[in-house]
Formats: sequence, structure tokens, C-alpha cells
Amino acid sequence: MPNKRTIHRFIIEEQRKAAGATGELSALLNDVVSAVKAIGAAVSRGVLPSGLVRGMAPASLPGSEESLPRNASGQLQKPLDLIANEILLRRCEWGGQLAAMVSEEMEDIYPIPSHYPRGKYLLVFDPLDGSSNIDVNVSVGTIFSILKGVDGSGGPADFLQAGSNQVCAGYAMYGPSTMLVLTFGKGVHGFTLDREAGDFFLTHPDMRLPEGTREFAINASNARFWEPPIKRYVSELQAGSTGPRGADYNMRWVASLVAEVHRLLLRGGLFMYPAEIKDIKEPSSPGKLRLLYEANPMAMILEAAGGAATTGRGRLLDVVPTSIHQRAPVILGARDEVERIDRYHKEHELGLDQPYKSPLFGTRSLFME
Ligand code: AHG
Ligand code: MN
Ligand code: MN
Repeated sequence: MPNKRTIHRFIIEEQRKAAGATGELSALLNDVVSAVKAIGAAVSRGVLPSGLVRGMAPASLPGSEESLPRNASGQLQKPLDLIANEILLRRCEWGGQLAAMVSEEMEDIYPIPSHYPRGKYLLVFDPLDGSSNIDVNVSVGTIFSILKGVDGSGGPADFLQAGSNQVCAGYAMYGPSTMLVLTFGKGVHGFTLDREAGDFFLTHPDMRLPEGTREFAINASNARFWEPPIKRYVSELQAGSTGPRGADYNMRWVASLVAEVHRLLLRGGLFMYPAEIKDIKEPSSPGKLRLLYEANPMAMILEAAGGAATTGRGRLLDVVPTSIHQRAPVILGARDEVERIDRYHKEHELGLDQPYKSPLFGTRSLFME
């Protein structure tokens, strides 16, 4: 691919545009790139033994669920979750740019070991997103976010920053081709791995969320837990051309946030993992996705591509975390759809959404109360 820019060249050229840049962020990103190449190689080996991390189990042998450990969110950790975590730690800890790391697969903050130099940046990641897809050979990914420490300690206060403070965010997608998508806040750029050349090349410069798409993604098996504004929104889409939206919509669910966001960037639409009411006597719970290493990086990417991201009650990137593994309701994609959902939440709070329950809004569906 002689006329395409490698990701390393792209990163250095971006660095040159930033006044006062020291090259530390570039060096860190190059280590992240090297890690995702190694994770992609491990993922592509499927159930073949992985020699990448000595002493670890083959990547995705279908073992019994009870034998698997659980992470801080209570989710099962597959061998490949742990291998991907290990790869990111080992490839990014030594370079001197980082003070500490946070990962979905580690309960506590990982401080840079004292025998390595420490830097000002923080790396936060979901080493393998959508790992329930591994056993069935469906796309998975890695999500990462880079912040600057606020007090330099590499402790919780450093990490508990709103997503609007992210310096850089990205994801790798291990699909039919391996891609890496990156933003520094202005513009979103996609790179495709050329396996023969061993390099990522810029193949999708300035990705913009297409407008007017009629696709939405939500795990409909959770419908009974949704709050009224989400029930209203989904039921209107389901009503299709005979409902208030006057158009037919398609529903998608890959169960991998990376794959869903990648589809949004290329085809547009909306993704939701909203708040849930699990117990009507309790306040709603924040859904499933984690703020620091799932919601925030994807929200930064979507905003930079012309989309928007909300919790339903305000901009996702404005949420100030109180703990490193905290969850957040996530609604992201086309700006007008996100704004509509925010409006439905406001109307519900003000009691203005009653007409939606009237037969004027079409036939009652599964999702209506
Ligand atoms: P992870 O594999 O890192 O735990 O993340 C899985 C997440 C996310 O990628 C996806 O959108 C969602 O979980 C799928 O949730 P369901 O289990 O409700 O389908
Ligand atoms: Mn995930
Ligand atoms: Mn994960």
C-alpha cells in the first residue's frame, strides 16, 4: 500500500501539529498499537494454543464456566481476556510515559513498577470487548482511553476525571480485517492492518457518522427493565411506517460495543445500553457498560465524528466518575436521535409524555406499559 500513511507516520504528523508536544503521547500510542497487533494475533489463533503469554491457557478453549475467574464487575474472565490484559500491561508499562493503568480485568489501579520511569499519562482499557463472542468466532475488540494525571499520583483522584478530559481515545476491532480507530478529539481516523506488511495503514481518514440511518441497536431481552422514555423511543421505532416516526427501522445487536460503534461510524444509527429498573422500589441502575474504559472512549469518538452521546440525563462526557469501574447508561450515535432521547427523558420527568400512551400513537407493542 505505497501511497497510504502508516499509523506511526500519522501519529508523528499529528504530534507536529500540536504546539509543545514532547513525543510522549506518540511513544505511548505506538506501544498501544504494538499491543493491539499482538492481541489481534492471539485472537486470530482461535482455539489453537497461544505462545504469546507463557504459562497461560490456550486462548479460547471452551472450558466449564464455573472454572473461570471473575473481574471487578462480576463478569467471567476468559483466558483471552487475561492474555489481552497482560499484553497491554507488558507493552505499555516500560516506556516512561505512564503513571498508572486501569483495566476492566484488574480490580485495582496498576501503578507503573518502580524499576520503570514514570510519566504523566494514564492508560485505561477494556482489553477484550465483547469477549462473550470469542467462543463463536464473532468480532471482538480492544477499547482504550488516555488521560493526563491531575495530581500525578497515579491514584484514584488521577483517574476520576470526566471523559471530556480524555486526550485520546480509540479502539481496535478484530473482525474479518483488524482495524484501529483513533481520535485526539478532532476527527476520527481508521487504520487497517496489512498482515503481510505488519503495519496499520490509514484507510478511513476523517470518519463522519452518516446521517439519516434507520438502524438501532439495543439488547431487547432487557425491555422489561427499561425506563419509560426508552420504552417510548423503541416502541415508536418498532411501529415503523405506521407509527409516529413514519418510517421503518432495523434492529441490530452484536453484543460487542466495538462492533456496534464501528457500524455506527460507517453506517450511522443509534446504540443504547440504557439505565435499567431492576427493582421498582430502588432507583434505576446504570446498565452494564463501564464509564472509564467503554462509555467515555466511545463517546469521545462519536462526538468527534459528528455524533453525540448521552446517559439520557446529560452528556456522557460530563459525568464525573466516583469509582474506576463505575457503570453508566450509554446512548450514542446520530445527534438528532440522541437529542430526541434526552427530550423524552425530560418530558417524562415533567409528566409531559402521557399522550404517548394514548391509542393516537398507534397500536400498543411489547415495549409499551
Ligand atoms: P466485555 O466483553 O468487555 O465485558 O463487554 C461486553 C459488553 C459490550 O461490548 C456489549 O455492548 C455488551 O456487553 C453486551 O451486553 P449483553 O450481554 O447484554 O448482550
Ligand atoms: Mn467491554
Ligand atoms: Mn472486556
